[in-house]
Amino acid sequence: MQKLIIDGGTPLYGEIPVQTAKNAALPIIAACILTAEPVVIERCPRLKDIDAMLDIMRHLGCSCEFVGDDLTVCCNDVALNVIDAELTGKLRSSIFILGAILSRCRKAYISHPGGCEIGLRPIDLHISGLKSLSVDIEDDCGVICCDGKNMRSGIINLDFASVGATENLMMAGALLDGETVIVNAAREPEIVDLAAFINAMGGKVSGAGGSIIRVVGVKKLHGCRFRPMPDRICAGSVLAAVTATGGAVTVRGVVPEHIFGITEKLKHIGAKISVRGDTVRINADGRPKPLRKLETNVYPAFPTDMQPQFCAVLARASGSSVIVENLFENRFGYTSELLKMGASITVRDRIAVVNGVSALHGASVRACDLRGGAALVIAALSAEGRSVIHDPKHIDRGYESIETLFSAIGGKIRRSSDAN
Ligand code: UD1
Repeated sequence: MQKLIIDGGTPLYGEIPVQTAKNAALPIIAACILTAEPVVIERCPRLKDIDAMLDIMRHLGCSCEFVGDDLTVCCNDVALNVIDAELTGKLRSSIFILGAILSRCRKAYISHPGGCEIGLRPIDLHISGLKSLSVDIEDDCGVICCDGKNMRSGIINLDFASVGATENLMMAGALLDGETVIVNAAREPEIVDLAAFINAMGGKVSGAGGSIIRVVGVKKLHGCRFRPMPDRICAGSVLAAVTATGGAVTVRGVVPEHIFGITEKLKHIGAKISVRGDTVRINADGRPKPLRKLETNVYPAFPTDMQPQFCAVLARASGSSVIVENLFENRFGYTSELLKMGASITVRDRIAVVNGVSALHGASVRACDLRGGAALVIAALSAEGRSVIHDPKHIDRGYESIETLFSAIGGKIRRSSDAN
């Protein structure tokens, strides 16, 4: 089994580019089903979650091929195969492919994606949204069977601004007659990127980034070349790591306003941040300051996908911080691993109290989910001594090569496949 070996305590220095956003690339790949023509996704990230999505696409008869960093997807014919539990189990967010298949084929079959490490992730909003577009949906022993023969555009009022449901419904409306309106849509930058992609294929989506999205269906979409947005969570993870270890790093190729909620909090805990064009420069030294309250919420508030990485930073703060997780009910699992490194954290339901300690120490830990795994890497980089992170497969779901990322700025991190 693989492991990451990290010798901590070294400040990080240098300049690095940021990878393309996983959470933008995933729905964009799914949206390729909307056209029979080839689509080129430039600088598509090489990640386990992307591989899982490509497995689903191939299962549906699409061809997917990397040439260098560019991915070409061609869904000339779409086979109405059941997307079974083995495929959906590898990628919980696979549910948002439903909208694209339905829009193109008017039928779709997918196994229930089930729960996951950070919470139950129900799909009720996806289902009720599709029902508002007159899709008949039945659950046949865990397989969600969708019949869209009477499908028509309509108005969908989301009870909660779910990212995945918004994306699903944008794709569902893309090829329908008339206008589909999504009220209380999610406003994350990845939604804006998906809208730009559908429009690059000849679609008519407006209002993305606001709470009301309008999708005017078109008869046909065409192929295109598209470069998805930079990964704001990956950029934020590097900035958080530098705040934890100290040092000075420039992150290139970011959209600074996407990470404003993150950089503002980093400033509060003592990092110096300067922005020029698409680069963000961070300087940090000494112990971070505590945060009275760090609360996750939908964009543009502080993202849940940065909560664990901030916890790792605050574990060494010069006082106590409170973290409130509002999006997922079980997103503090990684804290038990931080305790092994000497952190002092108490968790109750969705609230964690982090009492900063002067130093963390190296330990043998396990990454149980993607961002929790990134938090362990950050803690290990700032800890005294050696840490071993066992089975980093969850980290590989979202970071192209976390050891390459951090060693490029001086982190002592390597991957080993040794048996012991
Ligand atoms: C996306 C991101 C994920 C991020 C999350 C919140 C992708 C691939 N993943 O996930 O990294 O953490 O947004 O920013 O883009 N919910 C329901 N019913 C539903 C759908 C969602 O109750 O039908 C709940 C979820 O359980 C969760 C909350 O809504 O508690 C947020 O989920 P959602 O915004 O849908 O996140 P995802 O699209 O799954």
